[in-house]
Amino acid sequence: MTDAPTLHFGVFEVAAPQVGGTFSWAHPRSRSADFLDPQHWIHIARVLEDSGFDFLFFAGGYGYPLVDGDLPEIAATKGINFSAIDPDYLIPVLAQHTDTLGFVVTLSTGLEHPAQLARRLASLDHLTSGRVGWNIVTGASQNAVADVFGQDAIVPHDTRYAMAAEYVELAARLWEHGWDDDARVVDRESGVYARRDGVRPVVFEGEHYRSRGYFGAPPSPQRTPVLFQAGTSPAGRAFAARNSECVFVQATTPARTAAAVADIRALAAERGRDPRGMKLMAGLTVFVGETEEEARRYEAEFDAMQTDEIVASLYAGNTGIDLLALDPDKTLHQVLGQGSVGEMGTSNIDRFLGENAPTVREILDQLKGRGTRGFRLVGDGTQVADGIERLAAETDLDGFLIEPVFEPADLEDFGRLVMPILRERGRLREGAPGNTLRARLTEQPGNDRLGDAHPVLAAD
Ligand SMILES: Cc1cc2nc3c(=O)[nH]c(=O)nc-3n(C[C@H](O)[C@H](O)[C@H](O)COP(=O)(O)O)c2cc1C
Repeated sequence: MTDAPTLHFGVFEVAAPQVGGTFSWAHPRSRSADFLDPQHWIHIARVLEDSGFDFLFFAGGYGYPLVDGDLPEIAATKGINFSAIDPDYLIPVLAQHTDTLGFVVTLSTGLEHPAQLARRLASLDHLTSGRVGWNIVTGASQNAVADVFGQDAIVPHDTRYAMAAEYVELAARLWEHGWDDDARVVDRESGVYARRDGVRPVVFEGEHYRSRGYFGAPPSPQRTPVLFQAGTSPAGRAFAARNSECVFVQATTPARTAAAVADIRALAAERGRDPRGMKLMAGLTVFVGETEEEARRYEAEFDAMQTDEIVASLYAGNTGIDLLALDPDKTLHQVLGQGSVGEMGTSNIDRFLGENAPTVREILDQLKGRGTRGFRLVGDGTQVADGIERLAAETDLDGFLIEPVFEPADLEDFGRLVMPILRERGRLREGAPGNTLRARLTEQPGNDRLGDAHPVLAAD
């Protein structure tokens, strides 16, 4: 046992052929192409709950890679960040087959009105008895999204964050201020469903969003779902410091990740928030086996499936930059300041800039097999558990989102080979966590609600 803090674990999923912009569904170990079958997800959710994961996380969105304005061939033929369904509808199904596992869905701001999203998430929070989180993103693959939604141009990066701040504020007010806790009485004798003076209009006049009216969904166990956020540009970090309870940080090197973590915690403290109360997590790809040799074999088989074209397609989807069209011997500085570079998202550009910036050829090699994945660990259960503890110590992260490669087999292996070791070392929370995802992640039974002191409600 150790005095080191508890670690939290989620699994990073997409309702798509595979995760992370890498190619693996065709490997004999993988069943991820079964993503249209609810049984596939029910099995995964049960494996996660039984082995002590905190939540199942779904990334997602309407975007896909674009190269020269069109879907690259490889995205369609290999299913690289293309072809997906909406995971929201899986969640009530999975909730029926689990008791404590949380579910986090990624929903972009800026596409639908906040009242629509607020109603959907309130519904999910009811249907899961308070086990839902919202991963707030301003949206990947903005160029493709603009095409699909018929927009002439993408909204500039920092404007999207300004809009997102209003968006979350309005959604939070709908969740928190529309109903008194005891307004829904459901008294059969008198036939009174709700007290009239317990429901009140929410009036919001923002620059980008307006709302004036009543919120029909009664208060759910958490009211506001746990607010996650992904996006670690300066604007993204400022957004996180104000709004987020959990941040999904883009993992790069341990040192760079540690700097991002320290910066986000410092910004939160400046806002008067408890920097340790915020949970910061990063992606982690694990190849684990009964022996190190078995794990290395899985890693080699996975790596052998990856190509430059896969990397380039994925990277273009995240940044708008086509690496294969650039001079391979020069750095990314060659494209800075050109056209709309940087407007799609800066996290995956900035990580390759600065002193000793890699060349395009080196970036392709670094990203091969990584896609948008975070850290990578390979070994037997003990080696992986050691690696996790080392990464947590080096970065000050609170936990990791495991990014499957050959699912569900590798999630089963992680649950069987790694989680028991972490539990034995005192790194996993023991016992009943409280019923809601918020109580579980904050390790405070009964801490179900966002609380009026949260800065997202402070403008009131
Ligand atoms: C770790 C990480 C995960 C992300 N996951 C998603 C996602 O699932 N769906 C999506 O539309 N965008 C996703 N994004 C991109 C966000 O939409 C984000 O707004 C974009 O990266 C621009 O913000 P940034 O420059 O602050 O990183 C993710 C970004 C990061 C860094």
